[in-house]
Amino acid sequence: MALTAALALAALLPAAAGETVLGVYIFHRHGDRTAKEWPPTALTALGTEQVLSSGTYYRNRYIGANASSPIAGVSHDLAVLSQLSVSAPVDSVLQNSAQAFLQGLYPPAGSVATQKLANGTDTNPPLGGYQYIPVNAVTSAASGSSSENSVWLQGTSGCGNAMISSNEYYTSTEYLDTLASTADFYKSLEPVINGTFTEAQASFKNAYAIYDLIHVATIHNSTIPSSSLLTPETLHQLQTRADQHEWGLAYNSSSPIRAVSGAVLAAQIVQSLNSTLQTASAASGLKLGIQFGAYGTFMSFFGLAQLPAVSADFTGMVDYASSFAVELVTNSTAARPAAADVAVRFLFSNGSAGLNAAGLQPFPLFGRRETLLPWDTFASEMGKFAIGDTGAWCRACGNTTGVCADYAAGAAGAAGGDAGNGGGDGGVSRPVAGVIGAVVTLVVVLALEGLLMAVAGLRLTKKKAAFSTEAQADKLSTSSK
Ligand SMILES: *[C@@H]1O[C@H](CO)[C@@H](O)[C@H](O)[C@H]1NC(C)=O
Ligand SMILES: *[C@@H]1O[C@H](CO)[C@@H](O)[C@H](O)[C@H]1NC(C)=O
Ligand SMILES: *[C@@H]1O[C@H](CO)[C@@H](O)[C@H](O)[C@H]1NC(C)=O
Ligand SMILES: *[C@@H]1O[C@H](CO)[C@@H](O)[C@H](O)[C@H]1NC(C)=O
Ligand SMILES: *[C@@H]1O[C@H](CO)[C@@H](O)[C@H](O)[C@H]1NC(C)=O
Ligand SMILES: *[C@@H]1O[C@H](CO)[C@@H](O)[C@H](O)[C@H]1NC(C)=O
Ligand SMILES: *[C@@H]1O[C@H](CO)[C@@H](O)[C@H](O)[C@H]1NC(C)=O
Ligand SMILES: *[C@@H]1O[C@H](CO)[C@@H](O)[C@H](O)[C@H]1NC(C)=O
Ligand SMILES: *[C@@H]1O[C@H](CO)[C@@H](O)[C@H](O)[C@H]1NC(C)=O
Repeated sequence: MALTAALALAALLPAAAGETVLGVYIFHRHGDRTAKEWPPTALTALGTEQVLSSGTYYRNRYIGANASSPIAGVSHDLAVLSQLSVSAPVDSVLQNSAQAFLQGLYPPAGSVATQKLANGTDTNPPLGGYQYIPVNAVTSAASGSSSENSVWLQGTSGCGNAMISSNEYYTSTEYLDTLASTADFYKSLEPVINGTFTEAQASFKNAYAIYDLIHVATIHNSTIPSSSLLTPETLHQLQTRADQHEWGLAYNSSSPIRAVSGAVLAAQIVQSLNSTLQTASAASGLKLGIQFGAYGTFMSFFGLAQLPAVSADFTGMVDYASSFAVELVTNSTAARPAAADVAVRFLFSNGSAGLNAAGLQPFPLFGRRETLLPWDTFASEMGKFAIGDTGAWCRACGNTTGVCADYAAGAAGAAGGDAGNGGGDGGVSRPVAGVIGAVVTLVVVLALEGLLMAVAGLRLTKKKAAFSTEAQADKLSTSSK
C-alpha cells in the first residue's frame, strides 16, 4: 500500500532528458480467467481488457509516434517482426493473453497498411489492417523433431534438484507449523468449498487451490454458497496464506535451485538485451523481447534478484496482467553505443500497467539502492544466478541422463564451465534459450503438479483432476486442452 502510494506520481513521465531507450524485455502474467474446475479455462472479457490495456500502455510508453520513452528505431505503426520476439507456453490463457497484449502494442494499422500494386491499385488488408504477430509457442513436439530440445519439450521429466528442493518445503518447520496453526481456519471454510474439496483436503496443503477457487468465484459468481463466511479478513487470510505457500515453493535463499525458472528467465533477459545492444544500429535488430509466464516465475525471479529487500510485497503473488520491464538505456548518441555507456532499469506494475494509476515503477535490484545500473554490473549480477544453456541447466539440476547425458562429467564433448554462469553468451541461440526456459517451466510445473497431487491427496476424478491443474494455474504451461 505505502509502496503504491509513495510511487503513484509519475505514471508516464518521459524518459530522463537526453536518455535513449535501446530496447526492453517484458515479462507478463495473463489476465483474469475462468475457473479451471469447469474446463476449458479461458481468458475472460475482463482479462482480455486487462492485457489489451497493458499492451496499449506499453505502446504509449515505447512504441507510438508520440511515445513517452520511445525505443530508438522501433517501427511505430507497422510491426517489424525482426524487432519483436514474443513467446508464451502452450496454454490457451497465456497464448490468448499474449495475442491481446500485442493488439494493444500494435493495433490494426488502418490506412497505414495500404499497399500499392504494380498496376497502381491500392489494396487494404482485411480486418482494418489487423497485425499478425507470431507468438512463438513451445509445443509438445509430438511431431518428433530430432533436435535435443524436443526431448525436453515432451515434459516427461524435470529438474531433479529443483524437485527435491521444492519437496523439502513440505517438511520444513515453517510449512508444518502453518499447517497446524491454520487447520481451524480452513475447516471453517468447508461450507464454501465442500463442493470441490473434501474435509481432509481443506487445509494449508491446498492453500493455493482453495484461494484460487474462491478468488475466481468472488470475481465472477454472485451466488457463492455460504458467502457470508467470506469476510474481508477471511479473504485477506486466504490470499496471504496462498502467497506464503507459493513463495515457499518458488524460492528459498538457502536452496537457490528451487528458483530454477527465475534463473532461466534471468539468462533470457540478459541474452535478449545483449542482442538488442549488439544490433542497436540495425533497423532489423531486436528491440522488444516479450514473454508471458507464470506468477511462480515472477516469484522465483524476485527472490533471486533480491526484490524482497525493497518490499515484502514482492513475496506475494502478482495480480493478473502484472508485468515487469527491463529497459536498456543510454545517454550516448552513437548509433551503436559502447557497452560502458549503457545502463539498465527494472520497472514493475502490479496488475495491468494500463489500469494501474501508477503504471510501471522502477525498483532497485540485487539489494542495491540505485534503480539505474550500468549494463556490465547488471549482466554480472544476473550472471551470478542465471542459467542460460542446456549444460548449465543439467549441472545445476544434477541431471545426467536423457538430454543431459552429453553434459554429464566425463562424457565426450561435455561442456565445461561454471553451472551458475549462464548469463554470458553461453553459445546458445536466443530461440534455443527460449525453448529451454519454457521447458524448464514446463517440467517444474509438471513436477509440482505431481507433487501437489501427491501431497494434497487430491482425488483424480475428472473434475478434481481439472481442479488440481487449476491449482497451479499459472505455473502450468500445459493446463489447457
Ligand atoms: C502526436 O502528437 C501531436 C501533437 O499533440 C499530434 O498532432 C499527433 O497527431 C500525434 N501523433 C500521433 C501518431 O498520435
Ligand atoms: C489491379 O490488380 C488487381 C489484382 O490483380 C486487380 O484486382 C485490379 O482489378 C487491377 N486494377 C486495374 C485498374 O487493373
Ligand atoms: C532429471 O532427474 C530427475 C530425477 O532423477 C528425473 O526425474 C528427471 O526425469 C530428469 N530430467 C531430465 C530432463 O532428464
Ligand atoms: C530452505 O532450504 C533449507 C536448506 O535446504 C531447508 O533446510 C529449509 O527447510 C527450507 N525452508 C523452506 C521453508 O522450504
Ligand atoms: C456443504 O456444506 C453445506 C453447509 O454445511 C451443506 O448444506 C451442503 O449440503 C454441503 N454440500 C456438499 C456437496 O457436501
Ligand atoms: C456459482 O457457484 C455455484 C455453487 O458453487 C455454482 O453452482 C454455479 O454454477 C456458479 N455460477 C457461476 C456463474 O460460476
Ligand atoms: C501485488 O498485489 C498483491 C495484492 O493483490 C499483493 O499481495 C502483492 O504483494 C503485490 N506485489 C507487489 C510486488 O507489490
Ligand atoms: C543520462 O543523464 C541523466 C542526466 O545527467 C542522468 O540522470 C541519467 O542517469 C543518465 N542515464 C544514463 C543511462 O547514463
Ligand atoms: C553479449 O554478446 C556478445 C557477442 O555475442 C558476447 O561477446 C558477450 O559476452 C555478451 N555479453 C553478455 C553480458 O552476455
